[in-house]
Amino acid sequence: MPERVALYPGSFDPLTNGHLDILWRARRLADRVVVSILENDAKTPLFSLRDRIAMIQEIVGGDPAVDVRSFSGLLVDFAKSSHASLIVRGLRAISDYEYELQMALMNRRLSPEVETVFLMAKEEYSYVSSRLVKEVARLGGDLTGLVPEAVRGRLVALF
Ligand code: PNS
Repeated sequence: MPERVALYPGSFDPLTNGHLDILWRARRLADRVVVSILENDAKTPLFSLRDRIAMIQEIVGGDPAVDVRSFSGLLVDFAKSSHASLIVRGLRAISDYEYELQMALMNRRLSPEVETVFLMAKEEYSYVSSRLVKEVARLGGDLTGLVPEAVRGRLVALF
């Protein structure tokens, strides 16, 4: 049986506990999961690509079934070059649905052989987003339980 590879793409600026929860769920669906960080993001990220890769490596680096890579260009092209048959995305609330549906259908049109699957994180993470985590960090709020320690330390140091 060929190895089943899943991409878990995103900006991860920064990785939250919600992302981590989705990643562990994706691990159960695939032999290998590639955390795929978008390089040429139009949004100006808080953390450089290098920092995001380093942080995520620190958190998941011990797992031989998880790779951390960056990509530019089309996600489906990266899927092809990574021999990935699955794209995993997390769905929180109904507000995520429209954007995610558009992306999944566009990716399917571009590459019908790659399937997008949506996973739901634990309810306790359903309101957690990188954007809100950054806002809470900037305003000095408590990030315990929202992000991994490696991320919390960097956010606290930054603000
Ligand atoms: O965490 P994000 O910012 O919601 O992730 C978005 C991401 C990286 C998955 C998406 O922007 C992406 O796949 N970009 C690559 C460009 C691409 O393939 N575009 C066409 C498909 S919609």
